[in-house]
Amino acid sequence: MSFPRHRLRRLRGAEAIRNLVQEIRLSPSDLVYPIFVAGDDNVRSPLQAIPGQDMLSGNHLLDEMRAVRDLGIPAVLLFGILADEDKDSHASASYSPEGPVQRAVRQIKAAVPELALIADLCLCEYTDHGHCGLLKNGEIDNDLTLACLRKGALSLAEAGCGVIAPSGVMDGSVFAIRSALDEAGYEDVLTMPYSAKFASRLYGPFKEATRSAPAESKHATHQVGVANARQALSKIRADIEEGADIVIVKPALGFLDVVWRARRQFDVPIAAYSVSGEHNALAAITDGDPEARREMILEALTCIKRAGAGIIITYFAKEAAGWLRGR
Ligand code: PBG
Ligand code: ZN
Repeated sequence: MSFPRHRLRRLRGAEAIRNLVQEIRLSPSDLVYPIFVAGDDNVRSPLQAIPGQDMLSGNHLLDEMRAVRDLGIPAVLLFGILADEDKDSHASASYSPEGPVQRAVRQIKAAVPELALIADLCLCEYTDHGHCGLLKNGEIDNDLTLACLRKGALSLAEAGCGVIAPSGVMDGSVFAIRSALDEAGYEDVLTMPYSAKFASRLYGPFKEATRSAPAESKHATHQVGVANARQALSKIRADIEEGADIVIVKPALGFLDVVWRARRQFDVPIAAYSVSGEHNALAAITDGDPEARREMILEALTCIKRAGAGIIITYFAKEAAGWLRGR
């Protein structure tokens, strides 16, 4: 056979052919937008640590929710930000009907019922020490924490939340929440655990924004070490066996091997969370060049989807959805 044997550039010559053969395509419906909810009323204040994100409540929050819905984004992931004086050692605000997320859920359900509401459920935003679980003799106590997560899940379901996302990587958290929900008649509420949550530096901006960083980190005792893909897959398997409906891999970009392996090994929907540090890094690379920024963001999100994540949680969701709709 004469040279060249393979002319793969035939697939890349014309835009119409490039479009025709493109293997995956991003859509606004792949995206989940994280939202930071304030404990105080009617707040809109920028979070310095994650440029572009605001802490919201009241009408500001509802305006934002309408904008998200109108962009075709199906779901938001809610985080509460609490004043220091409202935190305590029991994380009471995590299960109070008047907790920031519970209140936000009731308001959004009433005003923008089309959006799927996912509540992040971890104790670090609500404990005065900032750890992701309740302490016993100075250490995070797994089973004590489960009792608190059950109460948190119930209060969120009671408020109208459709998806509970435990993010503290405690053992048995999916079973604890699933059984609490089922016993109370909330069998239609989903669980979406952060199963493959790695102990990453990339959460730094988020910890600063939510003021939830403990004085001394104990993350290594519950989050998965970054060297350990197989441990992450074991946790995904355990969470699926406990009834998880959707599982999260986090962070995204350094962990696409785990997304890919999870996609091949399991049949549940897989979400990848492109976290605050990834957001800030990608924004910094293209600072001051809007076209480069657009290309950078769409490249990163496309890579995450190509690796096997059908759901992408990203602070770029609104921006990306705007571009994708225009296509
Ligand atoms: C736990 C939680 C964290 C993030 C999401 N949920 C922080 C942590 O686990 O330390 C990080 C998200 C991000 O960095 O964007 N409440
Ligand atoms: Zn936490």
